[in-house]
Amino acid sequence: DNKCTMAPESRFDCGRDRLLSQRECEQRGCCYAPLTNAAGAPWCFYPSLYPGYEMGPLTPTTRGQAATLSRAKASYLPRDISTLRLEVIEETAGCLHITDPSSQRYEVKLPGDVPESRADSHEIRHYAVHLGLSSVSCLHSMNTTVAPLLFADQYLQLSTQLASSFVSGLGEHYTPLILDLNWTSLTLWNRDMAPHADANLYGSHPFYIVQEEDGLAHGVFLLNSNAIEVMLQPTPALTWVSTGGILDLYIFLGPNPQSVIRQYLQVIGYPTMPPYWSLGFHLCRWGYTTTTTTRKVVERMHNASFPLDVQWNDLDYADKRRIFTYDPWRFGDLPQMVKEFHERGMKYILILDPGISSTSPSGTYPPFDHGLKRDVFIKNATGNILIGKVWPGPTAFPDFTYPETRKWWEDCIRDFHSKVPVDGLWIDMNEPASFVQGSVEGCPDNDLENPPYTPRVVGGQLNSGTICMSAQQNLSTHYNLHNMYGLAEAYATNRAFTNVLGKRPFVLSRSSYPSIGRYSAVWTGDVRSDWEQLRFSIPAVLQFSLFGVPLVGADICGFGGNTTEELCVRWMQLGAFYPFMRNHNDKPNAPQEPYVFGQKAQAAMRSALNLRYSLLPFLYTLFHHAHTSADTVARPLFMEFPTDPNCQTIDRQFLWGSSLLISPVLEEGAVELAAYLPPCTWYSLHNVCLSGQYLLLPAPLDTINVHVKEGHIIPQQEPALTTTASRRNPFFLTVALSAGGWAWGDLFWDDGESLDTYEMGNYCYVTFIAGESSFSVCFFTQVLTVTSLALPMSEVFTVQWAL
Ligand code: GLC
Repeated sequence: DNKCTMAPESRFDCGRDRLLSQRECEQRGCCYAPLTNAAGAPWCFYPSLYPGYEMGPLTPTTRGQAATLSRAKASYLPRDISTLRLEVIEETAGCLHITDPSSQRYEVKLPGDVPESRADSHEIRHYAVHLGLSSVSCLHSMNTTVAPLLFADQYLQLSTQLASSFVSGLGEHYTPLILDLNWTSLTLWNRDMAPHADANLYGSHPFYIVQEEDGLAHGVFLLNSNAIEVMLQPTPALTWVSTGGILDLYIFLGPNPQSVIRQYLQVIGYPTMPPYWSLGFHLCRWGYTTTTTTRKVVERMHNASFPLDVQWNDLDYADKRRIFTYDPWRFGDLPQMVKEFHERGMKYILILDPGISSTSPSGTYPPFDHGLKRDVFIKNATGNILIGKVWPGPTAFPDFTYPETRKWWEDCIRDFHSKVPVDGLWIDMNEPASFVQGSVEGCPDNDLENPPYTPRVVGGQLNSGTICMSAQQNLSTHYNLHNMYGLAEAYATNRAFTNVLGKRPFVLSRSSYPSIGRYSAVWTGDVRSDWEQLRFSIPAVLQFSLFGVPLVGADICGFGGNTTEELCVRWMQLGAFYPFMRNHNDKPNAPQEPYVFGQKAQAAMRSALNLRYSLLPFLYTLFHHAHTSADTVARPLFMEFPTDPNCQTIDRQFLWGSSLLISPVLEEGAVELAAYLPPCTWYSLHNVCLSGQYLLLPAPLDTINVHVKEGHIIPQQEPALTTTASRRNPFFLTVALSAGGWAWGDLFWDDGESLDTYEMGNYCYVTFIAGESSFSVCFFTQVLTVTSLALPMSEVFTVQWAL
């Protein structure tokens, strides 16, 4: 009948939860119509006007309005909830909050205090009005016009039409910046898994941004930490399916991409201000097996004049791979080594996995003994400590949602730091990863381990590669909290380390969840050393920008497998423009430190490193704007040029802030590069002035193309082998005058490591304005003297500096 005649791309799957026969499909009251040539479109789909929830009248509440949603007949799902409470919240970004009024369901609580909204009142007013309208339209689309709302205990489903096909977000996956809507599914379930297509990876970010027409954009955030599968279809439309919690949906109305991100970050929190040194070059590998080896690496970097701020050690340092210990034979003089690095003006970081070895003889491994006493570990369903397996063998897992655990963690960090004064902590394996499914004893058979519906996940089961779903944590079951494990650890580590150091901490996490940018940097995990992975590292980094994690990078030259010299050169060049720049390598692989390559390759890498170091004052200023205004650092072109349709899908190039365009080589053997330069004048850093949009740029092995946009001034500093040294060097400005003969730039400067310098006013902020080769400088605060701004001009424009 005509209720079933919609076009294949407009069908919404009525059998998401399981495969249905024609009879089963029709028993659900759905349409069944096999297709031969629309791959991906469902055969069993909802008819128009499929019965769902009826909405009662909206009545005012203190926060907005509320209504009851009720359905006359239960849906086809087990443990269906037939009466719901819908709240529409208009004062904040919150739009729809759908809960079960008759029982207390699990709801996400982000760690830390609720971020204070930084929007000025004007923006909020403007916003509220629009939100009011939109909440009405949300209701319309929910009110079964595209597909029914479903709400059962372990299956929540909501579909929405999309304003365009330009959708980004919903990480963490191995995808382009613009997601494929051709019947794809993306599962959000944190998993220790080397990046590849169609897999749920380390982090979960249930947020997307849609580019609309005329440069407009909006965003949507589902604040839910359960396993989520998102179906994308060419309608264009999207369906959320979550396996628990509530539907807490935020809508951000922009109107432009950058304001969408700002509004999102007003809900989840603005990113932390990183220490200045963490923007320098980091060198790591698994397999620096002794302090002697580690020292040699630093020595060779130094002798070959490669900038290096931070030397790292992987698991090699730890005694039997147990955290908070160090190997007495191979790393016996670790404290001394760290001291030497500090004397050179360098920093030191080591790895810290969350799993606590549980098999050391009692009395020999305090982290476990004290943890037991203080009851910090996650329990299994029967109340015993859950034991999994990670690098040290059998391990217990700290429950970071329990306040006492955070205190114990801080005590462990304080105690270790008093012996080994590390500057940063690398929290890995925190999905959490386990090498046995669930636990060494397996998992019980229940609805959490085997839910009625399991989203498409690597391994086929939620507890695969991690701990049991019915494991018990302070806040809830692991089933509900899994996706937040890394976030909870990052929060605990950031707070603990801040207290121990009394300075800005640096934390690097693999697992992530919304708001992690307040506490930690993120890297993209175990990428392979190949050209495709090099290329996909750009959308990966850009997506984390959208998620409020500006300090992000991929393992330069690749982690898995052997690199080649050419790949490693190109990766160092691109990596010089990752906000977080670390070269890291897996244990069995050929070395890939810059000094192991031929002279030409070394020269190319050295020049990329020097270029980055010269740009650090500018990069640091961008981080200041990320921290205070939720601006992005590594920025997709569509965010800066939203009305330019050519920019909508670009993810082989990206920007730093609004003024620096980075166009790396991503293909083997290439010495030229097809690039897009948005209409206006761009200057290469070698003073070549370009206009025209699609260009073939020369890109020999020693070159990464970087262009400055007209009208901008880039604050720079002479590079050095560490930021400790470069911060003392003269500044200079690269001035790219606009056609009208003016340019603007700014610099945020502080001591680079104290806490809350901006919040307490211990900083300097300089605005540069150049007009027709004459400068005016506006000083805002105290720290910086004019002499430290003795500014030899760049090559682009030699403009006389006069005060
Ligand atoms: C994980 C990490 C990797 C690290 C290794 C050993 O695979 O992702 O970066 O080197 O564990 O600790």
